[in-house]
Amino acid sequence: MFSSRTQWKFNTNKISELLESLKQHDVDVIDLTVSNPTQCGLLFPGKILSSLGQGENSFYEPSAQGLLKAREAVCRYYDEKGLDVHPDQVFLTASSSESYSLLFRLLLDPDEHCLFPQPSYPLFDFLIQLNDVNKDCYALKYDKGWEIDVDQLSSRFGARTRACVLVNPNNPTGTYVGGQALKAIIRLCREQQTAIISDEVFFDYSWNKENHQSLVAHQENLTFVLGGVSKALALPQMKLSWVVVGGPKNLVKEASQRLEIICDTYLSVNTPAQNALSAWLMARADIQARILERIKLNRTRLEKQIFSNPACELLQAQGGWYAVLRLSEEIVEEDFVLELLKEDQVSVHPGYFYDFNEGGHVVLSLLTPPACFQEGIGRIFKRVAAVRTRG
Ligand SMILES: Cc1ncc(COP(=O)(O)O)c(C=O)c1O
Repeated sequence: MFSSRTQWKFNTNKISELLESLKQHDVDVIDLTVSNPTQCGLLFPGKILSSLGQGENSFYEPSAQGLLKAREAVCRYYDEKGLDVHPDQVFLTASSSESYSLLFRLLLDPDEHCLFPQPSYPLFDFLIQLNDVNKDCYALKYDKGWEIDVDQLSSRFGARTRACVLVNPNNPTGTYVGGQALKAIIRLCREQQTAIISDEVFFDYSWNKENHQSLVAHQENLTFVLGGVSKALALPQMKLSWVVVGGPKNLVKEASQRLEIICDTYLSVNTPAQNALSAWLMARADIQARILERIKLNRTRLEKQIFSNPACELLQAQGGWYAVLRLSEEIVEEDFVLELLKEDQVSVHPGYFYDFNEGGHVVLSLLTPPACFQEGIGRIFKRVAAVRTRG
C-alpha cells in the first residue's frame, strides 16, 4: 500500500531508547546536542517578532520566486559581503531542506546520481530517498585538518552524476571548501556538466574572520547557493530560506524557468516572513555576534581542557556550530555514548550519526549554554579516563 521510498525502519536506536527512559524517570540530562538556537538561552531583539505585525500581511500576493522586496533583501545580504546578486537570481523557499528537494527535482531523474560529502549532515539520507536520488559520497579525510579527497572525488564522477553537493562549511566538521579542492571540483563539474549545489547555511559563522570563498558569484558552472534564516539569523521557526542561481547565462535562464514552475506549484513561502526579512537581516550583525561569542567561549574551554586529556583529540575546524572529538582507539563509540548518558547523564551525538568513516568520534553543539557545556565536557573527560583505566 505504501511507496518503497518510505520503507524505513521505525525501531529506535539504543541511544534514543535510553534517553526516553531517562526522561520518563525525570533524570536531568546535560544535552550537548542542542543546536536549536531557540532552545539555547540566546535571546534576540524584540524587533524580530514586532516585524511580523505589519498590516501588509493581510494581503496575499502569490509569487513563485518570492516577493521582490524579500529577494532584494537577500541581495543586500550578499552585497554587504561584496557579492553581486540580482533579485532575478533569488528563489525563496520555506527551508533549506525544501531547497534541496526542489533542486533534486530540477536536476535529477530517478536513476541519476548526486555526490555528497562524508561525513556530513544526517538529513541527506532522507532527502535523497524522498526525491529518488542515488547518493555517491566523497570523503573528507582528517590529517591535522579535514581535506576533501580529490582523487577519490574524481573517481566518483560518472556519466549519470548530475549534481555535486558542497557543504560550506560542512556540518559537523566545520571546514570550508576552498583552495585546490575547490578548483578541482569546479573543473570536474565543468568537464562532466554537473551542477554544483553549495550549501552555505553556516557560511557566516567563521571563527577567525578568515576570508572563505562563497560560490554565490561563481560564473563557470551552473551553481545553486543555499542560505536561510534558520542559521544566518538563528530563526528556524520563521521558515524562510533561499537559493541563488548562478553560472553561464543560458543555463541560469533555463534553470530559472524550470525552478519557477516548481516553486509556483507549491507556493510554500509564507507572506509575513517575506515582509519581515529586510528588517530581520538588519539585526544580523547583532545576532551573529552573540552566537559567535557563545561558540568561541565553549570552543576555548574545550581547547583548554583537551590539553590535560590526551585520550581525546579536538579536531581542527574553521567555523559552524559544532565541535568534533576523536576518542582514543580502544574506546568503542556507541558504548561510550551510552555509558556517558547512563552513568554521567550527558548526551552527545556519536560520529556514526554523521557517517564518520572510521574510529570513535563524538559531536558536541557549541551553542550549548556555557555552564552546561563546561560541566558536560568535564564529565566526558572523566568518563574517557574511567573507560581507559578499566581497559
Ligand atoms: C548543513 C545544513 N544544511 C541545511 C540544513 C537545513 O536547514 P533548514 O533548517 O533551513 O531546513 C541544515 C540543518 O541543520 C544543515 O545542517
